Amino acid sequence: MKPAFRSLSSPERMVRVLFEDRDLLLPEGQNLAAALLAAGHDSFRETPVSGAPRGPFCMMGACFDCLVQIDGITRQACLLTVTEGMEIRKPNGDVDV
Ligand code: FES
Repeated sequence: MKPAFRSLSSPERMVRVLFEDRDLLLPEGQNLAAALLAAGHDSFRETPVSGAPRGPFCMMGACFDCLVQIDGITRQACLLTVTEGMEIRKPNGDVDV
């Protein structure tokens, strides 16, 4: 399925990251949430109660629907930029922001 989002500019450099143990090439320095959406990933986690998929909504740090784990620390993807070698995982329910 074609992603619903796309970048408006051409990235200068694509870098390798891991998302749920899968290699992914993302544009270095771009907003992480936007880059993952443009790569076709719209579910970043599941709710602990119902298991419903959640993804970025506000893109400004208010809703917390974009939570991911970066190197074991739960963070808001919309407040981060893509850096080479990031290891991104879906949070396992223990939100420690
Ligand atoms: S998208 Fe709302 S906090 Fe990141």
